[in-house]
Amino acid sequence: MCGIVGYVGANADERALNVVMEGLARLEYRGYDSAGVALVGGDRVVTAKKAGKLANLRDELGARPLSGSSTGIGHTRWATHGGPTDENAHPHRGGTDDKFALIHNGIIENFHALRGELAAEGVVFESETDTEVVAHLLARAFDGDLTRTMQRVVERLEGAFTLLAVHSDQPGVVVGARRNSPLVVGLGEGENFLGSDVAAFIGYTREAMELEQDQIVTITPEGATVINFDGSPAEGKRYHVDWDAAAAEKGGYDTFMEKEINEQPQAVGDTLLGRTDAEGRLTLDELRISEERLQDVSRIVFVACGTAAYAGMVAKYAIEHWTRIPVEVALAHEFRYCDPIIDERTLVVSISQSGETMDTLMAVKHARELGALTISICNTHGSTIPRESDAVLYTHAGPEIAVASTKAFLAQITASYVLGLYLTQLRGQTYADDAQEVLAELHGIPAKIEAVLGGMDRVREIARFMVDTRSVLFLGRNVGYPIAMEGALKLKELAYIHAEGFAAGELKHGPIALIEPGQPVFIVVPSPDTPHGLHGKVVSNIQEIRARGARTLVIAEEGDDSVQPFADEVIYVPSTSTMLAPLLTVVPLQVFALELSTGKGLDVDQPRNLAKSVTVE
Ligand code: F6R
Repeated sequence: MCGIVGYVGANADERALNVVMEGLARLEYRGYDSAGVALVGGDRVVTAKKAGKLANLRDELGARPLSGSSTGIGHTRWATHGGPTDENAHPHRGGTDDKFALIHNGIIENFHALRGELAAEGVVFESETDTEVVAHLLARAFDGDLTRTMQRVVERLEGAFTLLAVHSDQPGVVVGARRNSPLVVGLGEGENFLGSDVAAFIGYTREAMELEQDQIVTITPEGATVINFDGSPAEGKRYHVDWDAAAAEKGGYDTFMEKEINEQPQAVGDTLLGRTDAEGRLTLDELRISEERLQDVSRIVFVACGTAAYAGMVAKYAIEHWTRIPVEVALAHEFRYCDPIIDERTLVVSISQSGETMDTLMAVKHARELGALTISICNTHGSTIPRESDAVLYTHAGPEIAVASTKAFLAQITASYVLGLYLTQLRGQTYADDAQEVLAELHGIPAKIEAVLGGMDRVREIARFMVDTRSVLFLGRNVGYPIAMEGALKLKELAYIHAEGFAAGELKHGPIALIEPGQPVFIVVPSPDTPHGLHGKVVSNIQEIRARGARTLVIAEEGDDSVQPFADEVIYVPSTSTMLAPLLTVVPLQVFALELSTGKGLDVDQPRNLAKSVTVE
């Protein structure tokens, strides 16, 4: 949700602009309503900004090149206050005579009051943004020291923000501030960087520094200095990024999404890596939570949004089954407002790819206030949610660039299983003996995903025939239910087709009225070995909709011939135990959505109206 880049180097040449533009290209997944840059040159700051994707800014810079500079900032926007226009694009100058520029990610909640105050003093605004208000405050308060000025101004701001500012009176300096919004520092040699995430500068350095909440960082070519909002000195935490620029590139695929779908075997494998001992038992020392504390957990609540929440729903079925601990899943944005019943024996597990989703962050903070033990399942090192949690279990999916989540989803499910199996192991309950067996089976999943990916030709054909389809339904039961929801979400996001996921048993309670001749319906069928005759029930559900003319697209386990008579198409996935099946059954649905989107000529990686990391509530 808005991407931010800052750069300072020693030489006034093309490098600053190139670094900033490359950073924006890597961060464009965070928002693509507009893009803009500001460079400090001579005694002024020059800017260029354009509504629409980064390509529009590139065209603008082609027509109106900026001169060389050692210092620059850049922004790619996901609009909140004010539409996606040139005027609302960042940077904002705060009414100065070309000496100052500011970019911002987040929302200034008290901007109305501040805007009114400034307007009363005669300030004329050029945009509808909350950012411009801060730009005016900074520009007016500037006293020759941008860091000190930033410190005074942030005191007046409420809400969530990352701010980057430059001023031509301090040419080799970029000042950043963060509260509840992401900002990381990249440490180079004779040059330094700022970014919403490390992708912004990964082409130049893999040495990074985390910032805490409410801190201000000042970068110069020589280094980075951090202070707290109250002015006291602080130390950023340095770390080495364990992936390189190649991981953030398409690597021969047409789209990031295609690449990421194909990386799923590795995402699952890497998430399991290093988490078992020689006897095949899980070791999660990384949590740094005592075994006694975990043994004492009486309830688990997953908090997450969107795809990550569906991972939590899958985890609920598995963890309740293995541990016999009651598990709930709460949409993070609802969690705080439903007066949740939480105590110190509640384990609240957040799931987030980005680690920056504001709804999830706020849910975690609330859970901690209520005394819960909090664990973050997260894919992004140095992000906010892990830092605000008691412990973190990282997924190792690598950078996920396509806006719609695929490989992170599988990695999230895997990490949730690891956590569930670890609790099972610790608590020695009903399924403790089985835990190692499940774990061994989990280690075999990457090869099975590989097999699913190798057999997707028919799915692609089906998708291509369906480019004009207006509505698709998805059904599943048990762990297949969240997979049906995820299949529907992928189709909505990528192909802009109306899609709904239902628990198959719910259909007859109303939604079956939607079935008319030709209505395509995907059905995720559980393994015939699933207890309580669930398989037979789902097969009956298929018959019910087939009898009403639905076109049935069935995902079933290899060898399950019983679905054949009622299926217009069957897509087989390798056999695995019921709880692990989501890691396989979701893959054809991802490929289907990708292919349909491509067939419609849509932008698969950057679907309309979305942004990768949703840092506003
Ligand atoms: C859907 C998708 C979103 C995210 C959700 C949470 O494809 O990507 O639904 O899953 O916005 O994002 P994170 O995981 O970053 O908290």
